[in-house]
Amino acid sequence: MSIQPFKLERYYARHEFNARYMFSSSDCESLSLQELLGMASPASITLWQNLGLGYTESQGNPLLREEIAHGQTGIGPKNVLIASPEEAIFVAMQTILRPGDRVVAIAPAYQSLHEIARSIGCEVSNWEMQPGSQGWQLNMDRLEELLSGKVRLLVINFPHNPTGFLPSRAQFDQIVALARAKNVMIFSDEMYRMLELNPAERLPSISEVYEQGLGLSGMSKSFSLPGLRIGWLTSQSEGLIRDIVGYKDYTTICNSAPSELLALIGLQNRERIVARNLEIIRANITAATGFFEKYRNLVEWQPPQAGSIAFPRWLGPGSAEDLCEASVTQQGVMIVPGSMFDQPGERFRVGLGRRNFPQALEHLDEFFSITYSGV
Ligand SMILES: Cc1ncc(COP(=O)(O)O)c(C=O)c1O
Repeated sequence: MSIQPFKLERYYARHEFNARYMFSSSDCESLSLQELLGMASPASITLWQNLGLGYTESQGNPLLREEIAHGQTGIGPKNVLIASPEEAIFVAMQTILRPGDRVVAIAPAYQSLHEIARSIGCEVSNWEMQPGSQGWQLNMDRLEELLSGKVRLLVINFPHNPTGFLPSRAQFDQIVALARAKNVMIFSDEMYRMLELNPAERLPSISEVYEQGLGLSGMSKSFSLPGLRIGWLTSQSEGLIRDIVGYKDYTTICNSAPSELLALIGLQNRERIVARNLEIIRANITAATGFFEKYRNLVEWQPPQAGSIAFPRWLGPGSAEDLCEASVTQQGVMIVPGSMFDQPGERFRVGLGRRNFPQALEHLDEFFSITYSGV
């Protein structure tokens, strides 16, 4: 079975390096090499200066695996596999799934979270999130229904891309309890973890609480280092991690040595980087809330609970896709339409992690005031 084009990535490929402003990016303002090395301890600088550029350990640099495992209940370096985040999704799905397996996946979602399973020949059912007046909602009865029968894998993603939704701890525990009762493995994409606007709402990683859980995280979003291409999988099952490492022999074999070391420096400074990013996100939420209040006849705005993105509703003339096309061609402001998440018509994504968000808003303000003045 063939794999479908990755709509969002193709859309970015078309606009990312031409548009003047990126209004929908999911990563937080990137750090420069100089900024990152400026945070490094003397010991890490010594490692950096003496770094060899040979092949590295397939499972990932042991120091980096130790840093990732640090503070995670029940997880040690042997429970961690390092790979680029997108690669990690691919190798995990290829290792776990077989044609004909049933998979339940949260929807809407980052395309690879369901498309790789579909390309393997699995039967994928969407667990649809519902928009409500109080924000996005999970339908637990529907999940229970979907998990009836023989299901191999449940795929979740919290904090959620594209809505910025975060379930309560009670809901998260209920999801785990349902999966456990049905003997279903959980793949939990936790790429936006640590960016909870209220840190008390932070959920544990799935690998800390569920013996059949596989967690995905990485440097790209919360830690401002997407160019390193470093992410990781964690699981209580060392056997599963070993099997996935075996599959990785057919993709990258091992990671880039400089990237692993820079990721280590980033993680050693995680509190500082996350605090910086939350400050940017909070300021941008305030600016966005003011802007969308001004244009409340055009947009129904809901700030995220966690993460760097939101998924408001377009109420103006035409579709959200028309809005995005006009915005990038007339103002050079690229907006991702809901169709990239199989939600055409009304939704578009807003990225709140970039420092130039206020300038992008100024351009949108001009565009909205000219184009939709009579609305
Ligand atoms: C939910 C989610 N998972 C995984 C990824 C993949 O991360 P990366 O692009 O760093 O490989 C992304 C990137 O946008 C994402 O939003």
